[in-house]
Amino acid sequence: MRLSPVNPFNGMYDSDPQTTFEYVAEQLGRLGLAYLHVVEADEHGETTHPAVNFHRFRDAFGGTYIANGGFDYERAGAYLHQGRADLISFGRLFLANPDLPERFAHNTPLNVPDHATFYGGDETGYTDYPTVTGNLACCGE
Ligand SMILES: Cc1cc2nc3c(=O)[nH]c(=O)nc-3n(C[C@H](O)[C@H](O)[C@H](O)COP(=O)(O)O)c2cc1C
Repeated sequence: MRLSPVNPFNGMYDSDPQTTFEYVAEQLGRLGLAYLHVVEADEHGETTHPAVNFHRFRDAFGGTYIANGGFDYERAGAYLHQGRADLISFGRLFLANPDLPERFAHNTPLNVPDHATFYGGDETGYTDYPTVTGNLACCGE
């Protein structure tokens, strides 16, 4: 289950996200889900919402908690080290770097996501970012 408590994309908005989503997380925690995945960034990419303590969502859920929103390798490591999530997910960095795990593992510079190709158009910006090796071990027939 994925929640976006503080991102008003497409008109989603809650006047009291702490109370609402803490309750939701607690209820979801009773269902034996594999994980709760929370987008912690707002529409500006800010991850420090003044009225929301994400840690309480995690506690209320009680299971595997995945945090998302504005993470790079360093921030993800620090977040995990601080015990603030069980896993971190990467959106734009993975879109622009199909070999993201290998790049992280070898500290290789990253391709920069091109915002102009987000959300539509054709495959440009979805399948054509280069890998380090130029080959993707993927999708063979
Ligand atoms: C091109 C693009 C398409 C996305 N589509 C969706 C979507 O369909 N549903 C959704 O919940 N989030 C969607 N997102 C948001 C991402 O899943 C992620 O929450 C967001 O990019 C923040 O993570 P990041 O900072 O690691 O990129 C999309 C993001 C991008 C860049």
